[in-house]
Amino acid sequence: DWTMGAFRQEEIARIRAKVGKGRVICGLSGGVDSSVAAVLIHEAIGDQLTCIYVDHGLMRAGESEQVVRTFRDRFNIQLVHRDASELFLGQLSGVTDPEQKRKIIGRLFIEVFEEEQAKLGGADFLAQGTLYPDVIESVSATGGPSVTIKSHHNVGGLPAHMRMQLVEPLRELFKDEVRALGRELGIPEEIVGRHPFPGPGLAIRIPGEVTREKADLLRKVDSIYLEEIRAAGLYDAIWQAFAVLLPVRTVGVMGDGRTYDQACALRAVTSTDGMTADVYPFDMGFLARVANRIVNEVRGINRVTYDITSKPPGTIEWE
Ligand code: XMP
Repeated sequence: DWTMGAFRQEEIARIRAKVGKGRVICGLSGGVDSSVAAVLIHEAIGDQLTCIYVDHGLMRAGESEQVVRTFRDRFNIQLVHRDASELFLGQLSGVTDPEQKRKIIGRLFIEVFEEEQAKLGGADFLAQGTLYPDVIESVSATGGPSVTIKSHHNVGGLPAHMRMQLVEPLRELFKDEVRALGRELGIPEEIVGRHPFPGPGLAIRIPGEVTREKADLLRKVDSIYLEEIRAAGLYDAIWQAFAVLLPVRTVGVMGDGRTYDQACALRAVTSTDGMTADVYPFDMGFLARVANRIVNEVRGINRVTYDITSKPPGTIEWE
């Protein structure tokens, strides 16, 4: 891509001019934006960059390993991988309110990030994968009254007292341009083309209290669902697809016996910006196949439902 090739070179020059011999820290989330920002900055300044990946234990199956493999092993980026799942799950214990979950996760994320960056001896710059729509949104957000439905604690949002200068190489780009740049930089398709994933991760896909057992169960359901979506060639036609673990047990029958296990919901939507969304119209054969696999392969789940609510009036996530 000519445009992205030129952008890449210009941006590398800009980063070098701004950073000089300074040290840069970048928070990785496993998502597209922070990944592209990290690889671009690494191309510009090499080992002056260190990435910090705070692992809250609420990622999808295999995702943390993939982040480490990609950035440390493939791109040779200095990466701190902090497994903080004990801390996060401990603090989430007994918490059922969705906004409370977000607050706890947002706060812990910042605490752990600060701890890790202090261990590194601090830095002169903080890199963020801020996109153009984020810039616009934060400007227009001051322009009038708004209704907050969910407080989105994005992994990149750090407090003002971390007085580092910001490096935001994606500030002029839209999402599809970031993806194009990511491909130009050789970032694997499984990261560049990835569906959006909320900062609080699986915590907001487990209505009610979050436990490690529930997260493990949900990861199994979710990975079967996404595996089938990929196998059917539908992944790129969908904005976001995921499973929700429902806080309800229902009766089922398996072999000669009665089961009394948990139910789950599957969600898949199309959208252009996440603000509105339509249900993805799977055919029944596909859904039935996924339901069969989940009930047969995931012990503890005996019922599968498909969420057919659009946004509005529903939201994409359940919490
Ligand atoms: P909703 O559920 O509000 O989601 O229709 C719209 C988009 O935002 C994502 N989302 C979040 N992202 N932190 C995030 O970083 C959050 O707390 C959060 N809540 C929702 C959601 O996955 C969808 O892409």
